Amino acid sequence: MPSFPAGFRWGVATAAYQIEGAVAEDGRGDSIWDTFCRQPGVIRDGHTGDVAADHYHRWAQDVALMADLGITAYRFSIGWPRVQPGGAGAANPAGLDFYERLTDALLAAGITPVPTLYHWDLPQPLEDAGGWLSRDTAQRFADYAALAAGRLADRIGLWITLNEPYVVTAMGYALGIHAPGKALMLGALPTAHHQLLGHGLATAALRAAGAREVMITNNYSPAWPASDSAADVAATRAYDTLQNRVFTDPVLVGRYPDLGAFGVGEGGLDCVRDGDLAVISAPIDGLGVNYYMPTRLSALPDSPLPFQMQPIPGYPLTAFGWPVVPAALTEMLTSLKQWYGEALPPLYVTENGCSQPDEVAADGTVDDPGRIDYLDGHLRAVHDAIEAGVDVRGYFEWTLTDNFEWSEGYHQRFGLVHTDFETQRRIPKSSFAWYRDLIAAQRAAG
Ligand code: FCB
Repeated sequence: MPSFPAGFRWGVATAAYQIEGAVAEDGRGDSIWDTFCRQPGVIRDGHTGDVAADHYHRWAQDVALMADLGITAYRFSIGWPRVQPGGAGAANPAGLDFYERLTDALLAAGITPVPTLYHWDLPQPLEDAGGWLSRDTAQRFADYAALAAGRLADRIGLWITLNEPYVVTAMGYALGIHAPGKALMLGALPTAHHQLLGHGLATAALRAAGAREVMITNNYSPAWPASDSAADVAATRAYDTLQNRVFTDPVLVGRYPDLGAFGVGEGGLDCVRDGDLAVISAPIDGLGVNYYMPTRLSALPDSPLPFQMQPIPGYPLTAFGWPVVPAALTEMLTSLKQWYGEALPPLYVTENGCSQPDEVAADGTVDDPGRIDYLDGHLRAVHDAIEAGVDVRGYFEWTLTDNFEWSEGYHQRFGLVHTDFETQRRIPKSSFAWYRDLIAAQRAAG
């Protein structure tokens, strides 16, 4: 592996609902994911995040694993319903205590904490009041950001507002595959604007509370047309707009891309008010890039979402069936630089990883060569982007331990550490040793 720049951050990423469990402890309220998981038939095998990887009780062991791994930064998410069980009003001190303990343990281990404020666990009472369809949720999010930073900004410098707002809009409100399970198709578009407004308001609240650096994390995927036909190329452009531009243009250049392909006229989205784009485009200090795979598209005539995804033949697949295409990560990082130029802040790969069919061998070990290949290829791809002049400052592998993978329940294993969900025993996989050795070599060279 070639050398990364000195100071490059080496990390892993997790999310509260996927690892913590303890959903009814210490005053935590319900989130939309608690409610969603209780509905029959929506999650594979009826799994829920009630216990997950039991990180709420095993956090000290997990921090010890991270120290062993040698990471320099840890991206985790703060559970909104722990901090503000009803989504409004005073903080629940016990919820903040948990993240304070975690933060202090990370700092003591020499690991920089990088919290994300929203990784999809909206307090249920806010959903009952309209969720992200309601403009008020943006202000509620800023108030919650102020509470979290009020307790932690003296020790945490770098904050992430939202994780993958595109997925919230698309999977949560347009297609109904994720919580809150609404299938509104284009009627979901206001949730994009309200999340972005929430990002902007929260950015101001974080800075007021002493946060030094603020960023947003989006998921990006190079969009490739399935053919040269004008229809497929137009469909690909529409998809690219929705996934790669709608949540980035307003933040970096203060305007929405053309949404004509989605029936939005020149006047733009009705929910946008004067001044909103100035709030949303307040300067940020970094852009988080989550990358898993490219997307290949063909036209889908007479549909509100005028595209459909096509398989990408010729590449290995992860256990999830996702194609492994490291060069598309280089393409994505360099495209962002081409699109935004000087307006692009430093990039951080805030998620990248894969699920594999990991099994515990008779001797108790877990060998996952597919994950090592995936990570090796993608880290080289990040390095290629740096060589090409893109300012990438860190890499957060998804994820530390096997956990609750949303609609897939416990079926997709993404961890560097195997979790036995019966006993909660953790077994570092061979990829853990590989990443540990890589980080050690990079840190020694840098
Ligand atoms: C991302 C999510 C993360 C995880 C990975 C596999 O879209 O941000 O929580 O589920 O996918």
